[in-house]
Amino acid sequence: MNEEEARFLDLKRQSAVAASALVGPGMVVGLGTGSTAALVVEELGRRMREEGLRFVGIPTSEATETLARQQRIELAGFATHQHIDLTIDGADEVERGSLFLIKGLGGALLREKIVAAASERMVIVADDRKVVDHLGDHTPVPVEVVPFGWENTARRLEKLGAEVEARRTRDGQLFVTDGGNLILDCRFGQIADPAGLEHHIGDIVGVIESGLFIGYAAEAIIAGKDGVFRLHRER
Ligand code: A5P
Repeated sequence: MNEEEARFLDLKRQSAVAASALVGPGMVVGLGTGSTAALVVEELGRRMREEGLRFVGIPTSEATETLARQQRIELAGFATHQHIDLTIDGADEVERGSLFLIKGLGGALLREKIVAAASERMVIVADDRKVVDHLGDHTPVPVEVVPFGWENTARRLEKLGAEVEARRTRDGQLFVTDGGNLILDCRFGQIADPAGLEHHIGDIVGVIESGLFIGYAAEAIIAGKDGVFRLHRER
């Protein structure tokens, strides 16, 4: 790990520790996916061991489930818990003011959105590189699609103005999500109307869900070089 990566890891850890402090005894907690969310899982494991914290976690991916099991976090699913008190998750872009998000570069957007939708409160953990004035400037919108006819679904997404690329693994195979679906990374450039775009993407046959998260996050705990600061949804 080079010096810059180490610095950002430290920033992410600060954000993760601050967010983990929001978890109280007996809560049902949505456990996000990605490198920052993994630090949250780690910190929650530490609190369990050292402070005796007890809570139930609902993981948003198989990767997070594995990490949570390693920390001996008690896990549950929607069969027994339909209401989640708090979800702590990472993001790929966080829009200042609205706290609209782009998520899914880690490939877990579908479960992440299902968990977010069931959550009373969603808090985002990230470093300050993720905070943007307008979604889409740097990051494509990941769209989860059914494998059948994905090429056609891609053409329809292009008609919405996107440059579309099917996500692939390092060895060139199509990337397959935990749900057995594919991801199309859609570059729209700066997105003027994220809520409208989410709606239009959702209307396309073959689309399961997009990585635009509109109205879920109310708070983001962001780590910057001067420490941790909080952003709240303003509109
Ligand atoms: C996972 O599908 C994504 O939504 C992640 O939340 C996102 O990629 C953030 O990951 P990092 O914390 O590793 O940047």
